[in-house]
Amino acid sequence: MADESQKWVLMVTAQTPTNIAVIKYWGKRDETLILPVNDSISVTLDPEHLCTTTTVAVSPSFDKDRMWLNGKEISLSGGRFQSCLREIRCRAGDVEDEKKGIKIAKKDWEKLHVHIASYNNFPTAAGLASSAAGLACLVFSLAKLMNVKEDHGKLSAIARQGSGSACRSLYGGFVKWIMGKDEKGSDSIAVQLADEKHWDDLVIVIAVVSSRQKETSSTTGMRETVETSMLLQHRAKEVVPKRILQMEEAIRNRDFASFAHLTCADSNQFHAVCLDTCPPIFYMNDTSHRIISIVEKWNRSEGTPQVAYTFDAGPNAVMIARNRKVAGVLLQKLLFYFPPQPDTDLNSYVIGDKSILKDAGLEGMKDVEALPPPPEIKDNIPAQKYKGDVSYFICTRPGKGPVLLSDESQALLNPESGLPK
Ligand code: ADE
Repeated sequence: MADESQKWVLMVTAQTPTNIAVIKYWGKRDETLILPVNDSISVTLDPEHLCTTTTVAVSPSFDKDRMWLNGKEISLSGGRFQSCLREIRCRAGDVEDEKKGIKIAKKDWEKLHVHIASYNNFPTAAGLASSAAGLACLVFSLAKLMNVKEDHGKLSAIARQGSGSACRSLYGGFVKWIMGKDEKGSDSIAVQLADEKHWDDLVIVIAVVSSRQKETSSTTGMRETVETSMLLQHRAKEVVPKRILQMEEAIRNRDFASFAHLTCADSNQFHAVCLDTCPPIFYMNDTSHRIISIVEKWNRSEGTPQVAYTFDAGPNAVMIARNRKVAGVLLQKLLFYFPPQPDTDLNSYVIGDKSILKDAGLEGMKDVEALPPPPEIKDNIPAQKYKGDVSYFICTRPGKGPVLLSDESQALLNPESGLPK
């Protein structure tokens, strides 16, 4: 007969955003604790368009820790998952759910196992920092389940040990990851510079670039850069400290010209550092370079920056437009150069915040190929087009930090069995 005392399942569900660095994190001074060689700054992206949802559950009937990612069971044996689980477990508190008649004492957490189900609302393989949102969500939801009393700063230091950039996903808006000095990493935490409402004119357009090439993982790439690049030393010691101060000021004053200049320069220096690595690492491809040229040409023709671009460890372009009107014009230009395949309609080619398409008069447009060439092309030769080189575009904006989802219907685990729904 089943033991009635073993039957209960207690769950928490949370949603956490992804983020894009505008002053890049590249290079660790400690690989196990994930301590960076410089500070970094990011913009949190609206979780409505890009986020991770994670449900964590505990039950005396679970016989081991288990995790499902996007519906498939994955191993939790990796050091990064283990670090996060260990750090949260040892801070667990007493938990009581009066309605369900459940009481868990602080000391019981050592013996109890958890089930974790996580879902990314964007393709995990698209190179859109899914591990940042994923590990931040894991730490945030476990902390809630286990009644961990630490503030977001302390939680960010735990998330950092899962995936460096995950620490920045614990806040909305504009976030700084302070590299810290402590050998154990206690002061290597994220802080919020400004919330998402501070600068809500900004629009973010992501070009998910088709890529055939397997990229060097960030972990391997960073290690090789630290071991071989002199430029990284110069960047970390001389360049980034000044840029961090300038970027903080640009964000504080909503100074788009400075923000764009710093964002583009820092992305370009990060990729220069990759090229300075032995053997060199190439994350951008021809499409990435074409997008840089389109934005640079346009910004120059306007006399002042309209759009900033930044590229992480992959070919996808993240463009930040100064306002909605500019974002509409940007989309028009991008659709001119990178039209959808004939069998793809605009509605599935441009996803996320559709109102940008609508306001630009592009919604429902049948003949994207008929868009006029951008006026900054002065050449008489017809502009070349690159159909198929962009898989799709995502329109989004700066967004909020992690939230709890209290509605059980949003949970990814079954409340009776604790297994995926
Ligand atoms: N890696 C990619 N996505 C993830 C997620 N949602 N949780 C944990 N690790 C991940």
